[in-house]
Amino acid sequence: MITVPISKKNKFDDTVRRALFHLNTYWLFRYDKARFVSGQDKVDLWPTTNAGRIRGSLAPEEKWLLYNLATQLPEESTIFEIGCFGGLSTYFLGKGAEISDSQVYSVDPFASEMATQVSMDDGEEAIYLQADFNKPSLEDVQAVMDFHDLTDRVTLIEGFSHSIDWEDKPIDLLWIDGNHAYDAVVQDFEKYGPLVNKGGFVAFHDSVAPYGKKVTIKAIEDTVSASPEWEILGKQHSITYARKL
Ligand SMILES: C[S@@+](CC[C@H](N)C(=O)[O-])C[C@H]1O[C@@H](n2cnc3c(N)ncnc32)[C@H](O)[C@@H]1O
Repeated sequence: MITVPISKKNKFDDTVRRALFHLNTYWLFRYDKARFVSGQDKVDLWPTTNAGRIRGSLAPEEKWLLYNLATQLPEESTIFEIGCFGGLSTYFLGKGAEISDSQVYSVDPFASEMATQVSMDDGEEAIYLQADFNKPSLEDVQAVMDFHDLTDRVTLIEGFSHSIDWEDKPIDLLWIDGNHAYDAVVQDFEKYGPLVNKGGFVAFHDSVAPYGKKVTIKAIEDTVSASPEWEILGKQHSITYARKL
């Protein structure tokens, strides 16, 4: 009988898992591309401006999920995004918000307080903070929103989620993609989760293995999954999303 040493077996399992993940992503991508280019949903899967592609990191099915969640909200809902970066997820939320006539608020320090940003623990590596990454400013992202006619639909807020004054306004869709460290994710959820209306949604990026961050996954296990107030609806690539009961 051939026995496979544990380490090699794990490596094999991991390779198969990743291959299946990519295959799944490929099919979803083909499906999504057909949907998006049909024009039905009035959204571009690979949005650009005069300055090139909108910067950010989302898999096709993650774009689809954010867009669809935003379209499904009751009319005149409030979408709150933590972590805008170059505005990619903001674009999909904003385009979905056009359908539900909702408003998007997006908080990010953008290119301000760079010394503080670099000194913060982001859970694991934060590529967007590398010295030569040229973090977009609020003005850069505002130009992206203006280019896509989202000026009146999206409000950009420069600052950190834990320190801005949100005045406890109710939220219908909370998208958490800011600092991915355990304490930061818990803090964001504890500050904004209670403001989500019943029937509303929360979605976390980087929270599904193998692409998610272990600390982010753990933070969700200890908060949303453990709470009887929330029902996990599913996972899409590296997004976990839940509804408030
Ligand atoms: C992974 S990027 C977001 C990418 C974007 N959501 C997308 O999908 O295109 C994370 C962003 O969150 C910002 N960030 C980190 N901590 C934050 C906090 N406490 N509040 C708001 N934004 C934060 C970072 O500066 C960075 O721009």
